[in-house]
Amino acid sequence: PMTLAVVAFLSYLLGSVPFGLVITRALGLGDLRQIGSGNIGATNVLRTGNKGAAFATLILDAAKGGVAVLIARAVAGPDAAQVAALAAFLGHLFPLFLNFKGGKGVATFLGTLLALSWPVGLAVCASWLVAALIFRISSLAALIAAASSTFWMIGFGEGRMLLLGMVLTLLVFYRHAANIARLKAGTEPKIGKKQA
Ligand code: G3P
Repeated sequence: PMTLAVVAFLSYLLGSVPFGLVITRALGLGDLRQIGSGNIGATNVLRTGNKGAAFATLILDAAKGGVAVLIARAVAGPDAAQVAALAAFLGHLFPLFLNFKGGKGVATFLGTLLALSWPVGLAVCASWLVAALIFRISSLAALIAAASSTFWMIGFGEGRMLLLGMVLTLLVFYRHAANIARLKAGTEPKIGKKQA
C-alpha cells in the first residue's frame, strides 16, 4: 500500500505538468487560456498557428501518462501501472500547479493506454484519427475514440483494463461538457482553425 501511494503521488505530479502551457510560454505564443477554448491541450495549442508546438504538446502530454505507467509497472507490477495511469490522468485534469484547473485528458489517456496495452492504445489512436479525418473536429474525435476504448479492450482480451478504461472515458466525457454543448449547437470549430 505504501508503494502504491508513492506511485500514485509521483504519477499525479508528473501528470500535473501542463506541457501545452510550458511550451507556448517558452515560445512566446501568447496566453493559451485566452485563446480558442482556453484549454491547455494540443488542440488549443494548434489554434496559435504553431503546428510544431501542438505536436510537441500532444507527444509530451501523452508521454507523461505513458512514462508513469511504464515506471510503475517496472518497480511495482501491473496493478501499480493502473494506479499510475489513473493518477497521471487526474494530474492532467486537476493539476497541482494550476490550482487544479487542467485539461481534458485526451493525449494523456492515449499515452496511458499505449503503455498499458499497445494494441488497445494503437486501436484507440486509430479511432481518433479516422473520426478526425471524417469530421475534422478534435473534441468529437476524442469522444468517439474514448467511447471506442471499451470495445477495443474487450476485443483484445484486456478485460483487466475495463474498469479503469471506463472511469477514464467517463472523465473524458465530463471534461468535454462545453464541447458537447457546442457540438449540439453546431458551433464546435474544425481542427486547426486559428483562434476559433
Ligand atoms: O483534447 C481536447 C480536445 O478534445 C478538445 O480541445 O480545445 O477544442 O476544447 P478544445
